[in-house]
Amino acid sequence: MDIAMTDGYPRHAQPEPAWDAAQASALISAEAGREGGLLPALHALMAAFGCVPEAAEPLLASAFNLSRAEITGVIGFYHDFRRAPAGRHVLKLCRAEACQSMNGAALAADLLARLGLEWGGTTADGALTVEPVYCLGLCAMPPAALFDGAPIGRLEARRLAALVADASRVEQTA
Ligand code: FES
Repeated sequence: MDIAMTDGYPRHAQPEPAWDAAQASALISAEAGREGGLLPALHALMAAFGCVPEAAEPLLASAFNLSRAEITGVIGFYHDFRRAPAGRHVLKLCRAEACQSMNGAALAADLLARLGLEWGGTTADGALTVEPVYCLGLCAMPPAALFDGAPIGRLEARRLAALVADASRVEQTA
């Protein structure tokens, strides 16, 4: 496996979604006739492709009689809809006020810079995706995070580095 490392952190890349237009059309058509079918269609695409591929947008726009911009807006509004498949591990860092004011902003900025990622990006080895989340109900233990769905409170730099290292190490020994 080719993993580029800098300061112990793998560099970024976005995995390519495995696009299947016929499959996407079938999934969208199954929801297109229903009121409020757009969100179920987006969830179906997420389940099939691990993301909502950009190529699905014109299909969605046509099926739901919406503009491409409206489809893009809906996808962007809901943080659970991804543009590219997530890595094998997902780290969500809280960006709401209580956590931001308790070093969460600095921790996140440092991590993203070290990984060379934007929010929602995935490391080059596909091991880790870093996403924002807006309050996890752990406001009494800021800054908070979710790592593969497990809540973490009072996150600090050493713990964060250990999580990233663990994610990468598992991939290299898998
Ligand atoms: S503000 Fe971060 S958990 Fe509530």
